[in-house]
Formats: sequence, C-alpha cells, structure tokens
Amino acid sequence: MKKILMVAATSTFLVSGFAVTEAVAGTEKKCKACHNFSAKGKVGPGLLGVFGRDAGTADFKKYSNPVKAGGWKWDEEHLRAWICNSKKAIKEFSGDKKAKTKMPPQKMCGEKGDAIIAFLKQLK
Ligand code: HEC
Repeated sequence: MKKILMVAATSTFLVSGFAVTEAVAGTEKKCKACHNFSAKGKVGPGLLGVFGRDAGTADFKKYSNPVKAGGWKWDEEHLRAWICNSKKAIKEFSGDKKAKTKMPPQKMCGEKGDAIIAFLKQLK
C-alpha cells in the first residue's frame, strides 16, 4: 500500500512538471512571433528584464500612446491581466475606456498565464 501511494505521488509530480514545461514551450512560440527574449525590439518590445520594469520604457519606437504614457509596472498582477486580454487590460491600466494597444489579446489566462510569468521572471 505504501509503495502504491509513493508511485502515485511521483507520477503526479512528473505530470505537473511536464505541464509547466509544455506551457512555457508553447508560450515561447506564441510570444516569439512578435517579441525577442532579448533587449532587441521586433514587432513588439524586447522582453528581457520586463518583470518589474515600468511599462513603455524599453528601447522600442513603436509603442502605442497609452503604453508609452505608462504609469504602471509589469508586476504579476499587470502581466496576468495583459497576457490574458491586453485589449481589455489597456483600458483598465490607462483609465481610458477608449485606449487601444497594438498587442492583440493572447488569451493566456489562469495557469497558462502564470507559467508565462514564471518564464518572464527569469529573463534577466
Ligand atoms: C501579434 C504580436 C504579439 C504577440 C503574439 C505578443 N505580443 Fe506582446 N506586444 C506586442 C506589441 C505590438 C506590443 C507593444 C504594445 C503597445 O505599445 O501598444 C507588445 C507589448 C508587450 C508588453 C509590454 C512591454 C513594455 O515594454 O512595456 C509585454 C509585457 C508583452 N507584450 C508581453 C507579451 C507576452 C508574454 C506574449 C506571449 C504570451 C506576447 N506579448 C505576445 C505584440 C505582440
């Protein structure tokens, strides 16, 4: 009985470890269509060091006005809302119901979003 429980515990661990890796691997592909994980801009700003940074402060010339104006930091709360639905988030962050961002909604919400945030955190 004890042995069975241990096997069950081990496989749960492996499954969740795998799930996280999967999500991050999927994410990389998704974000990489427009972002580099370096300081260099592409369609969007470079994401190196984005965690904890002030919005709109990368070396990137094509920010939309509300992101460039900024006024928030890319902490967990803002990133979670942003990568789930940037279209909705920009209105909340800027306090302007008509604000628009150039980044389309990524629908990476909940656990998927948390895996991405964990990935962004270690981009230093
Ligand atoms: C279709 C292109 C596209 C995809 C895919 C995309 N982004 Fe973006 N992203 C942009 C653009 C363009 C901007 C600049 C937005 C603006 O200025 O309105 C941006 C801005 C950002 C910012 C703000 C950075 C700053 O310097 O203030 C973050 C954070 C971000 N994206 C994260 C992500 C993550 C994480 C993913 C993957 C889940 C992702 N993006 C996928 C195009 C994209």
